[in-house]
Amino acid sequence: MADVVIGLDLGTGGVRAIAVDLQGQPIAQTTRSYPLLTPQPGWTEQNPADWVVASLEALSDLTQRLNGHPAIALGLSGQMHGMVGLDADGQAIRPAILWNDQRTGKAVDAIETAIGRQELIQRTGNPAITGFQLPKVVWLQTEEPQAYDRLRQILLPKDYLGYVLTGEAVTEPSDASGTGCLNLAQRQWDADILNALKIDPGLFPAVVESTAIAGRLKSEIASRTGLPAGLPVVAGGGDNAAAAIGLGISSSHLNRGSLSIGTSGVIFVPCDRPIPDPEGRVHLFCHADGGYHLLGVTLAAGGALRWYKDTFASKLAFTDLMEMAERSLPGARGVLFLPHLAGERSPHLDPDTRGAWVNLSLAHTQADLVRAVLEGVAFSLRTAMEIVSEITPVHQLLATGGGARSNTWLRILADILQAELIAPSSEEGAAYGAAILAMVGVGAHPDLETAFEILPENNKVVQPEANPAYEAAFERYSLLYEALKAVR
Ligand code: XUL
Repeated sequence: MADVVIGLDLGTGGVRAIAVDLQGQPIAQTTRSYPLLTPQPGWTEQNPADWVVASLEALSDLTQRLNGHPAIALGLSGQMHGMVGLDADGQAIRPAILWNDQRTGKAVDAIETAIGRQELIQRTGNPAITGFQLPKVVWLQTEEPQAYDRLRQILLPKDYLGYVLTGEAVTEPSDASGTGCLNLAQRQWDADILNALKIDPGLFPAVVESTAIAGRLKSEIASRTGLPAGLPVVAGGGDNAAAAIGLGISSSHLNRGSLSIGTSGVIFVPCDRPIPDPEGRVHLFCHADGGYHLLGVTLAAGGALRWYKDTFASKLAFTDLMEMAERSLPGARGVLFLPHLAGERSPHLDPDTRGAWVNLSLAHTQADLVRAVLEGVAFSLRTAMEIVSEITPVHQLLATGGGARSNTWLRILADILQAELIAPSSEEGAAYGAAILAMVGVGAHPDLETAFEILPENNKVVQPEANPAYEAAFERYSLLYEALKAVR
């Protein structure tokens, strides 16, 4: 029986575990979900204990589906930016605060006052951002001082799971760079930033490389999951970096990034040096391959289309909406849509901005409205793409996520982004990338470049076509955010 490597992705909706053979073929997979807690408006939390129960169930289920294939390693990935605080006994001091939590506005201001926005961007690649981990720590310091006093260790979600599985608390650069206090050039915690905020750098775990073995599976976990005791657990990567590894996107092949159209839209572009956008409008993080990457995030992408469907067309299928959009024209006959239904990350970093349709007339139909939604998402991503392109060139994007399965949306995205879009023949996401990192971690492949040779060939390519209607619409779109600020 061929050896397999397990990849695990601790997502926001649930955990996914996949077993992959050393030729890259998925052998088995399973998922388990857990609740999202919203104790106050704008707050999002999860119970770390729920993650553990779900992950152990998923691993045990996966083991039963392996039909005798021996597992030789496990790699981790997960939702980024969250904060799990542990006390002296290794117990969570409170529920984890998640990446999409918005409670930290004041903490963000306090960080930028203490360190200075430019200094922060130069050191960490990003300004202070509400969702990142460091503002959560500062929030805990001021809002829950008793809990803060009990704090002995601060972990990211997947690293907490690694700690439960192995007893070792470590992290790796791709996820650690999403905290807001990792020095990007050194790939280590920035003690100056932490000292300025009176946070003990010793609260943070050791940073090892993404392919390093973080620890070995504890025997009690082995007996609960059926996996071998001592199984090497590889540090892995944050979900975006791990997904990029699963697509073969590396910082030694510049020009080629990825575009994911899920609930949010994400542009991931690798780079070989940590050069931030001076205004911090797109994120700069470490990649899991030793390099770096830029990340542009449109919070409502597929989410905007889903909102449209649920609100105005609940009886129609997504394919019907796409056919409808085809009946309009590029530029949506003058209608513009601003997709800021959930606030916006790139480029505005503004949780309070809101969406809009603009320029409606009696002549417009539902076809124009839905087409404007598809185009508005693409314009938002183009704004991020233009900022990224000033730092590193990008011509090709591997397009993934539900939205990228539509030929209509792919065509719109290719023409608006002016990039070649490649639809991968299979997309297994972050769990698959974590398995690839684990293969390298245990020497099943000598390095990531060699491991990438086992990835499936990509098939469909959409070449961009120049369209003056989109260029004119994008110019008008670019004025909307500022113009609508006054009517908020
Ligand atoms: C990236 C980000 C999300 C989370 C959610 O900056 O916030 O992609 O990692 O999984």
